[in-house]
Order: sequence, then structure tokens, then C-alpha cells
Amino acid sequence: MPIRILTGLQRSKDDKADDAFFYSQPRFVHHLDNHFRQRLTQVYRELIPSKSVILDLMSSWVSHLPEEVEYQRVIGHGMNLLELQKNNRLDSFWIQNLNVNTKLPLDSESIDVCLMVAAWQYLEYPEDLAFELMKVIRSGGKLIVSFSNRAFWSKAPLIWKNSTDNQRIQYISSVLTAQGWTDIQTIVYNDYKEGGFNFFSSNKDPFFAVIATKA
Ligand SMILES: C[S@@+](CC[C@H](N)C(=O)[O-])C[C@H]1O[C@@H](n2cnc3c(N)ncnc32)[C@H](O)[C@@H]1O
Repeated sequence: MPIRILTGLQRSKDDKADDAFFYSQPRFVHHLDNHFRQRLTQVYRELIPSKSVILDLMSSWVSHLPEEVEYQRVIGHGMNLLELQKNNRLDSFWIQNLNVNTKLPLDSESIDVCLMVAAWQYLEYPEDLAFELMKVIRSGGKLIVSFSNRAFWSKAPLIWKNSTDNQRIQYISSVLTAQGWTDIQTIVYNDYKEGGFNFFSSNKDPFFAVIATKA
């Protein structure tokens, strides 16, 4: 059974309508800037062996995987059919609202690496999903959760909305640890400058990743 650590209030969000409505229109945009995406692709290049079976959970029309690397299979999941159809990195995909049902239609121990990009911030039951991922990921497999400081705030539970960047890292880590994930590592690139226009430095999306291993 998943170990739940959030209160009902922490799971609540401003927009209580079914997420299916919010994601019914495709968004063919980049949710993260070029610097973030390049860093993410480099992290994938360094951490994910070729020939891996990958699950891109809460995906869109892009998966950010390095183009030159061949994987055994990339399985996608998301909320919008047109976005997933346009994602040419995916070998297959399915649609599922994880705030309604966290059971994944995947075989036990069938995935080497699961990716979640700008995604955890929308989960109402992250403990249940982290528990479920422990089942479908192989021993020694990894979960790579990455995010920045932007979100569709009306769709983000209070625990995310009311936290600082560091608290978000702690929050994800504690949920994962509670479900048995081990060897939690973090990557932080934060050269974001608060304030107005600065001729000499351009603001970049801060990059945060939490990486966990199934023992
Ligand atoms: C900001 S987008 C990020 C998409 C993609 N990972 C990327 O890097 O472009 C957030 C994604 O989270 C997923 N998502 C949001 N709410 C969800 C829900 N209730 N159930 C399942 N997926 C959800 C959708 O696939 C949506 O595209």
C-alpha cells in the first residue's frame, strides 16, 4: 500500500474541474526554455543507457531525448491525443488522467527508466503514483523527475504552489523515499535573476531534477 504523507488541503487546487477539460486542446508550445531543454537532454544522454525501455509519463509532443541515441522502446503517456500523435519519439502511447486513476496499464518490472518533465506539479496523489512506479520499473531502474519554477498554477496542488524550489525538491524526495525509492540524487542549475531587464545576463528557466533508483 502507498504511504500517504499529504493532507487533503495540500492536495487541493484552485481549478477543481476535471483535468480532461483543461487538456482537451493541444498545446504545441515549449513549456520550458531552450536552456532547460538542452540541460535535460544532456542529463538523459548521461544517465540513460541506449537500448533502455523508457516511459515518458505525462508527456506531450516532445520527449527531450537525445536524437542520436537509440532506445529499445519509448512508451508515452499524456492527456492529449493530438500532442502524443505528434511526438515522433514515442513507439506507443496511452491517455489517462492520473488524478482519477494512478494504476498504470504496464507489466511489472517492464520499464528501465521513467521520465516526468514539468509534470509532478500537477499530481494530487503522488504517493500512489510513486508506489505504482515501483512496480512497473525494473530493479536498478530509475525515475527522473525534472521541473522548473513555472506551472499552470490553477492546476497545481497547494503543496506545490506554496513551496519554494528547495521545498519542492524535499517534497518529491520525501514522497519517493516513503514508497521505497532509494539513492535519491538532485541536480540544480539556477542562474535565474530576479528583477528587471539586465543587459548582461538573460534570465533562464531554473533547472531542477530529482533522480531515484529502484533498489
Ligand atoms: C507542462 S505539460 C509538460 C508536458 C511534457 N512533459 C513536456 O515536457 O512538454 C504538463 C503535462 O502533464 C500531464 N498532466 C497534467 N495533468 C495530468 C493528469 N491529471 N493526468 C495525467 N497527466 C496529466 C499532461 O500530459 C500535460 O501535458
